[in-house]
Amino acid sequence: MTDRKDLIVGNWKMNATHLDAIQMIQKLHYRLEVEDYDRVDVVVAPPFTALRSAQTVIEADHMLIELGAQNAHWEESGAYTGEVSAPMLAKLAVGYVIVGHSERRQHFEETDQDANRRARAVLANEMTPIVCVGETLEEREEARAEEVGLSQLKGSLARFDVTQLGSIVIAYEPVWAIGTGRTASPDDAGEMASFIRERLVDLGNSEVAASMRILYGGSVNAGNVKDLMAKKHIDGALVGGASLDPDKFAAIVRYRL
Ligand code: PGA
Repeated sequence: MTDRKDLIVGNWKMNATHLDAIQMIQKLHYRLEVEDYDRVDVVVAPPFTALRSAQTVIEADHMLIELGAQNAHWEESGAYTGEVSAPMLAKLAVGYVIVGHSERRQHFEETDQDANRRARAVLANEMTPIVCVGETLEEREEARAEEVGLSQLKGSLARFDVTQLGSIVIAYEPVWAIGTGRTASPDDAGEMASFIRERLVDLGNSEVAASMRILYGGSVNAGNVKDLMAKKHIDGALVGGASLDPDKFAAIVRYRL
């Protein structure tokens, strides 16, 4: 299947004030051509505090950059001090929400069940969940990458019907490659993406699995993106560090095979 449109998402993590965000988005916009968006869906996911400013600048200048958020609570509203709900994000024209990122798992003890509940709320509000899975270095060295990936996939995607599954994006992010400058080799990343797609056939069916986008994340930069994207089952990238520099992020978006 080659009709999956590439998706490149900048995960800014806990970086950038709303003022920085405006500048970064404007710079990115100037560095991209309209044709770039024909090839690639371009998403930036700033912190919650910058979403409203980002939305305003994107709409005012009719930019084709889309907005993402880094998390969403599963309840619509209520006594959850410090949390942000999916309907709040949908109102800000957010199109994508990252769920189950390994930093959430590592620092905030989030589980597959949490990722599942968040993804459910994101879908219910007509946004696209980007569900992250990936093994630690220890797990890879023990040759358990597939086993861990499968269990995270099954847990995070539990009880979704085929239509819901088809609206989800999966990001394979080996934990040992995130923010470390160590990228998975294109072959390893491609094999994992292929393994994930096979498992998506089991969880849904071959048609839906073939339509779903699988991203790679972990130290993606302008130098390695092309070889990663050349892999049949890798349909885009979730980019952390390099997405904070509009020049670098634009160069990633503009990769050519
Ligand atoms: P990185 O982060 O590109 O800085 O490794 C990727 C991510 O965590 O999504």
